[in-house]
Amino acid sequence: MSFDDPIAALATYASHPSVSADPSYAEGMVAAREHVTRLLGDLGFAVEVIETPMHPILLATRGDPTWPHLIIYGHYDVQPADPFDLWTTPPFEPVVRGGRLYGRGVADNKGPQIVHMTALARVLAKNPELPLRITYLIEGEEEVGSPSFKGFLEQYKDRLDAEMVLVSDTGSPNPEQIVITTGLRGLVALEARFKGPRMDLHSGVHGGPVFNPLRAVSEVCASLHDDQGNVNVPGFYDDVSEPADWERKELLKMPQTEEDYLDFIGSPAFKSSPRYNALESVRFGPTLEFNGIGGGYQGKGSKTVIPSESFVKITCRLVPNQSEEKIAALVKAAISDRCPEEVTVDVEVTGGGDPYVVIPPGKPGSRGDEPELLKRAFDATERAIEESFGVSPIYMREGGSIPIIGDLKQVAGLDSLLVGLFTPADNLHAPDESFHLGIMEKATTAFEAIFKKLSGSS
Ligand code: BES
Ligand code: MN
Repeated sequence: MSFDDPIAALATYASHPSVSADPSYAEGMVAAREHVTRLLGDLGFAVEVIETPMHPILLATRGDPTWPHLIIYGHYDVQPADPFDLWTTPPFEPVVRGGRLYGRGVADNKGPQIVHMTALARVLAKNPELPLRITYLIEGEEEVGSPSFKGFLEQYKDRLDAEMVLVSDTGSPNPEQIVITTGLRGLVALEARFKGPRMDLHSGVHGGPVFNPLRAVSEVCASLHDDQGNVNVPGFYDDVSEPADWERKELLKMPQTEEDYLDFIGSPAFKSSPRYNALESVRFGPTLEFNGIGGGYQGKGSKTVIPSESFVKITCRLVPNQSEEKIAALVKAAISDRCPEEVTVDVEVTGGGDPYVVIPPGKPGSRGDEPELLKRAFDATERAIEESFGVSPIYMREGGSIPIIGDLKQVAGLDSLLVGLFTPADNLHAPDESFHLGIMEKATTAFEAIFKKLSGSS
């Protein structure tokens, strides 16, 4: 049985290079998908491969329609592994070293999926008729912004009449302290392209009267923050909601000081908006970041040129109550308004997603009328984590984004229980990504207890 050796199941899964962003990895996408299809088949699921314009979504089901219905979400795609030469061992040849499995995607998100599946395998081995209906949604476009997922949700809504979603695609501060993630930031991605002269020009022959597009992109970018550290876009903070008192208190339980955090990052100093300290800023505050900026000569030595074009890639992270459409429009307007009239600018919105927040049942401000399964899940998870890890979980929002979690709420009315199984030491999206085998083992035991409790069988 595949789940007798979960580390081997994960190593095989991670050996398939499922890089969704790069079409040359099409075979790796197929192989990873086939591996999950086999694993879910072994668990007794009926698996359907739903075609999309890009990478298919796996929809797998088990159980009786009269049973409580849980959706489990994961993604089989991974980030590109570049730069390859910074990996200690090749990214798609997973190996165990010092209590960790190394390989691209082992933490984000293949390892956490194996944790859920192994726990289910153990529970189902003892009780094949476990009265819990489960629908698995494993998509292949998460790392490129899930462009097909919302359309899929609209089309398959009827099949998703569940009470809640379970996801492990978020983080915890260290292998001892598990976090239940209560919110994710939203996202707006934009690209601005500045155009000046018709072609690159000799900077001596033409320099003087011609406005350089690199100067335009620099001036506009420099205007987008004030010297305090706030985003300088009119209306940007208008809809931002303040964290609840209990959230600020939970943050104090996090086993990390601002100094530890700065030390981990390695910058000489932090600069957040004065509205937040550094630890609050990544969880409760919105941002505008430059992800890439370019134009002109990037080669060796110097070249005397006035480039014809320049560009900047920007992403904003959004917090609850901010809307993707509204922020996209505000940032677009600020860039266009500030573009010097001697060049033109074209701003394209290239992706996005709304922020998400869930108030754990029983916490101040919770609705009280949450589905029975969701209440049971939060309660069971807190207790199972206490038992397996010896410490209660912390309830905390995260800075990262999983846009489809907001879509599941909007389209299907579903809230998510997000259990964080990777840690900052796992190097997500970076060379030497790894998954901590101690977390893997303890979390598998915890999820066995969680699945039993969800089915009402303990
Ligand atoms: N698993 C991450 C999101 C994440 C990371 C949540 C850390 C919480 C803590 C996910 O795979 C991811 O990287 N998402 C992208 C979304 C983007 C590509 C639309 C992100 O956050 O940048
Ligand atoms: Mn992920």
